[in-house]
Amino acid sequence: MKFKPHKQSLLILLWIAVLPLGLVSAQGSNSIWEGTYTDAQAERGAEDYAASCASCHAADLRGNSSTPSLLGLSFMFVWEGRTLGELFDQISTEMPTDQPGSLSAQSYAAILAFILRSNEFPAGDTELASTEAARSEIAITSSAN
Ligand code: HEC
Repeated sequence: MKFKPHKQSLLILLWIAVLPLGLVSAQGSNSIWEGTYTDAQAERGAEDYAASCASCHAADLRGNSSTPSLLGLSFMFVWEGRTLGELFDQISTEMPTDQPGSLSAQSYAAILAFILRSNEFPAGDTELASTEAARSEIAITSSAN
């Protein structure tokens, strides 16, 4: 017996296969593991970080005896379960401690991208816009699920 699939069921299968792609592009990523910033943005953030943050948090983000680390376990200890929006707010309103809020919103977003990349969250195709970062409900989680 020959297998003759209905044209209609093929279409439905195709639709199911394509559906997740459509959802992701329509809503932007809603997981920190789906890529919330671009590599180019993180590069710009690295420069701004070096100029405005590294003097206290160190070039390798590990901080020192008086400044917290922005990396790995100590970073996740503070930020796990909180949102990108909260992190953006804290950085953009309190940092650098000697000149709070002195950078542009784009620069804070780029620095946030750099911090995310340094913590091995994946890059994606769309930049993290500063407005989007500020109100983002995306949770900072240590694993994809
Ligand atoms: C003059 C020193 C100094 C500079 C420059 C500085 N920070 Fe900080 N930062 C601190 C200190 C001290 C703390 C801890 C106390 C606090 O939260 O105010 C801190 C806390 C933080 C925290 C919270 C960390 C945590 O785990 O609680 C983040 C995030 C942060 N800084 C990011 C940045 C970024 C991004 C920049 C550059 C735009 C920056 N800081 C520049 C001194 C500095």
